[in-house]
Amino acid sequence: MTPTRRTVALGGLAGVTASVLAWRGTRAEAPAPLVRVGALPSGSEVPLSLVAAERPVALPAFGGRAMPLLTFFEGDAFPHVVRIRRGDTLVTTLENRLPPGLEEMSVHWHGLRIPNAEDGVPYLTQQPVPVGGRYGYRFAPPDAGTFWFHTHCNTAETIGRGLLGVLVVEGDESEPYDADVLVCLKDWRIGEDGTFLPFLTDEGASRAGSFGTVRSANGEGALRIPLPAGGDCRLRILNVDPTRIPEIGVEGAEAAIVAIDGVAVPPVPLRSWRLGPAMRLDLVVRTPADGGEARLVDYHAPQPVTLATLAGTGETRRATAFQPAPLLMADLAEPDLENALPLTLTFSATATGLSVAEIANDTASPPLGPLCVTRRSFWAINKAPWPDGGHAVLPPPLATLERGRTYRLTLHNVTPHPHPIHIHGHFFRVLSSTRREVMPHWADTVLLTPKERLDLALVADNPGDWMLHCHIIEHQETGMMGFVRVT
Ligand code: C2O
Ligand code: CU
Repeated sequence: MTPTRRTVALGGLAGVTASVLAWRGTRAEAPAPLVRVGALPSGSEVPLSLVAAERPVALPAFGGRAMPLLTFFEGDAFPHVVRIRRGDTLVTTLENRLPPGLEEMSVHWHGLRIPNAEDGVPYLTQQPVPVGGRYGYRFAPPDAGTFWFHTHCNTAETIGRGLLGVLVVEGDESEPYDADVLVCLKDWRIGEDGTFLPFLTDEGASRAGSFGTVRSANGEGALRIPLPAGGDCRLRILNVDPTRIPEIGVEGAEAAIVAIDGVAVPPVPLRSWRLGPAMRLDLVVRTPADGGEARLVDYHAPQPVTLATLAGTGETRRATAFQPAPLLMADLAEPDLENALPLTLTFSATATGLSVAEIANDTASPPLGPLCVTRRSFWAINKAPWPDGGHAVLPPPLATLERGRTYRLTLHNVTPHPHPIHIHGHFFRVLSSTRREVMPHWADTVLLTPKERLDLALVADNPGDWMLHCHIIEHQETGMMGFVRVT
């Protein structure tokens, strides 16, 4: 893909400083610190029944045709959204009715700092759930924000066919906005004959991934969201695509970033933000007047692609200048940088000695191993591809972290591709990069750009075995995955 001028300012970060100046006057002022959420309130038990099965679903993006999606719920909404309040306990029953070929599964709760036993990683935190089997998850998410859930088994195909849901945990607003809507981005790999294309290809897996052919937001090719005119409207944007990395912008309205991966940041004007797979971005947009339209766009294309149209309707809600209310800050432990221990993770092509091309030509190996991933290895973390040699046993952890300690993580990308790197059960603080100016923020997934070294701080405060992997699913499934152990 031809990089555009804007993609050079990756994450829109170069733009952030300038916009802050423009917004706040001629002198950059440090934004007021965010107010923290209180202690976890006691809420109610919310039952959730997930029945994973193949269901024909006719999304508008499919042009009226039904596709054999894999879903957790009946009905043709996409995505399915579960909303709870912070303090509620989500009591989930999973039933596996997946079709042959996808037998085993689990549910992973992306971005949630929950106990390790509820994390839903087959073989690592639970045995996979066989077809016909049931499994229960029970937890009270400690943080409000925008999250999602998906399987952690045969993930290229299951996410590719839509097996996921969005989890909104309410309770982070310091003042109510005028609307709260969701934009869930996902492409679909549909061939000319109208059937699904392979979700994992050697061609894609060994490079930037296999892109979808049909783009969608909330399952629609031309999403139009009516919103209160002249209001401060919250847009929860999720990229649940396994591959594409859009560069999010808003045209025709003022917009500010208020949260990244569900964690509040002091409101900062949006110029653009690169949203890798699994990443979330909460914006507040001042909607146009009645009859006016703004557009949510992807700049990472020769011409900006409209992802959604935001239509102002009704009486204007606010006459004041755009100064969106901040969100409440999650209760995260501050990193102790003075006493931090170093940990370097290098993301590379496979360390087996075979070239990517040689592995791609080896068609003799069966496509799936018992660890729910393919047997091909194109990628490695610290020279260890997952799975490592034999598949019957888990590889050793990438590192063992002392509980409560701060780690200074260096993520080093020695490949020519960007990788959205995700850690389970924690947020890390993104501090700096060797290749660009970064806005410090918390995240569970960070885009590691080609040849970059990223400096992160991680407080290892959640005991257990936690996956750390690239969220370009074809990379994850061909080696770019490991885990850290917090003891
Ligand atoms: Cu969405 Cu292992 O992650
Ligand atoms: Cu990757």
